[in-house]
Amino acid sequence: MRTNYCGELRAEHIDQTVTIFGWVDRRRDHGGVIFIDLRDRTGTVQIVSDPQRTPQSYADAEPLRSEYVVKAVGQVSQRPPESLNDKLPTGQVEIYAESIEVLNAVNQQLPFQVSTADTETVGEKLRLKHRYLDLRRERMAKNLQLRHQVVKAMRRFLEDEENFIEIETPILTRSTPEGARDYLVPSRVNPGNWYALPQSPQLFKQLLMVSGCDRYYQIARCFRDEDLRADRQPEFTQLDLEMSFMSQDEIIELNEALLCQIFQTVKNIKLARPFPRLTYAESMARYGTDRPDTRFGLELVDVSDIVKDSGFKVFSGAVSSGGQVKVLPIPHGNDAISNVRIKPKGDIFNEAVTAGAKGIAYIRVRENNEIDTIGAIKDNLNEEQKQELLSRTGAKPGHLLLFGAGDTATVNKSLDRLRLFIAEEMGLIDDEQINLLWVTEFPMFEWNAEEKRYEALHHPFTAPYPEDIEDLTTARAQAYDLVYNGIEIGGGSLRIYQKDLQEQVFKAIGLSIEEAYNKFGFLLEAFEYGTPPHGGIAYGLDRLVMLLAGEDSIRDVIAFPKTQQASCLLTDAPATVDAKQLKELEIASTYKPKKD
Ligand code: AMO
Repeated sequence: MRTNYCGELRAEHIDQTVTIFGWVDRRRDHGGVIFIDLRDRTGTVQIVSDPQRTPQSYADAEPLRSEYVVKAVGQVSQRPPESLNDKLPTGQVEIYAESIEVLNAVNQQLPFQVSTADTETVGEKLRLKHRYLDLRRERMAKNLQLRHQVVKAMRRFLEDEENFIEIETPILTRSTPEGARDYLVPSRVNPGNWYALPQSPQLFKQLLMVSGCDRYYQIARCFRDEDLRADRQPEFTQLDLEMSFMSQDEIIELNEALLCQIFQTVKNIKLARPFPRLTYAESMARYGTDRPDTRFGLELVDVSDIVKDSGFKVFSGAVSSGGQVKVLPIPHGNDAISNVRIKPKGDIFNEAVTAGAKGIAYIRVRENNEIDTIGAIKDNLNEEQKQELLSRTGAKPGHLLLFGAGDTATVNKSLDRLRLFIAEEMGLIDDEQINLLWVTEFPMFEWNAEEKRYEALHHPFTAPYPEDIEDLTTARAQAYDLVYNGIEIGGGSLRIYQKDLQEQVFKAIGLSIEEAYNKFGFLLEAFEYGTPPHGGIAYGLDRLVMLLAGEDSIRDVIAFPKTQQASCLLTDAPATVDAKQLKELEIASTYKPKKD
């Protein structure tokens, strides 16, 4: 019987005889005395096998190697002064082993060192292929435990303090539109028909409100077939909430209390409330994005009105064709950023071009507010325009002003990208800071130029502000996103609960009444039977835990993640299946491997 976990042994256990189980983290032979660091999920403890004091276990310790699984019985003792280790929670004690029993040996060469003492960096592919070993490592084991603590804090708050109940919703379902491609599952029983894996439980949670559940939550697995990035996985987990009879402010308040409890419990950090709020319009104007990182300044400044009549065609042309000219002012930018970097082929130029810009214009502010540019701008600004430009952007000697000119979306996208790139590079981001803020008043729709139709910015079940209802195409949505240090960790809205309004929104996004009923008839019908006003939110659990863990990728907080190519290196999924299985499903693949 195990009496203790390795990592929990302390001075108070001295003289107790304990039985512990674990993996050999390291084995060291010091002049005839063998030291073993034994590890389990709580940490490591030092076991001593001494031919004088514990002769019976000395023979047992001799053949041990890294990652052997052993049972050890022995007496907890005070470490001698010279081997006290303040850095280790168990560093006050060691165990004199009476017996060590090997439960399982390692029979192949380990693909990488697992030891917590080892700082070797292992390639991610190898780690993912042998994920079970990777998860033994301290960093990963800590991340999994942190994830568990976060979920536990969520459950405690929602269930014990706010009366939410957890309800599971189907995984084999119909398509729920969250803007990504669906993962499809063929039905054997209904040949030719397909289930879609849920992109979120959105429609079911709304139906649960119609059922009178009042407050629902779920730790919900979601599936989206989209291009992957460090903060996107094809299957990921949401904390999904929905509640009835609450205003937007009440929902936001409850969610701030939830976040405060999570930070307090897992990080012992007290967050200040209320969290700041920015409207979408303000966020786009000041940061060029709807998920601003506000840990540093470098705010964008619209100078369209100042330069619209300047002789510099790039500026005046951008404004006259309905676009904008905005400036990213960079204090001390003159020293930090050379001309070569802003000109074609330079790294700053490349960042802007990757975001869709054609190039980047700039002004350097010198002593006495003299300005220095690449010819054209300077020659085409009059004194008044120049002075206004300097005062509007708050420019001082030493400032570098980077200009984005063109259609508004491209200007915002490129200056947002440059803002982050330059802040990172100039070391302006304080890693210790935690900036949580709400972005509100999103537009209901976004114009999709390719498909020539409006698209819901959140999803088509989001309610417009009642005062904007006359023209839905320009209406603001009662939607809110929660942004944590520039990463969107959650998003939600008040929902439409009237059939007529829902039909109008479907129409606005180009769905005919037939298509709308074909896809969402069950929801529209439910709205006819007494639907409470309701709203909710979903958090990306993986993203939240990633940020709390200080990791850069959600792969590091998911036990068995997929790669950027959406594959699992451990199990080799996805894989081909037997022809027999396809036949049963009445499916044939049309895929032809490309010839090299
Ligand atoms: P949304 O689509 O904004 O809203 O998703 C909510 C949150 O889920 C996270 N997220 C992801 N995390 C990892 N990988 C992905 N591929 C991924 N996609 C999204 C983000 C995001 O903020 N049904 C609505 C919520 C609602 O209205 O209540 C929804 O799913 O952190």
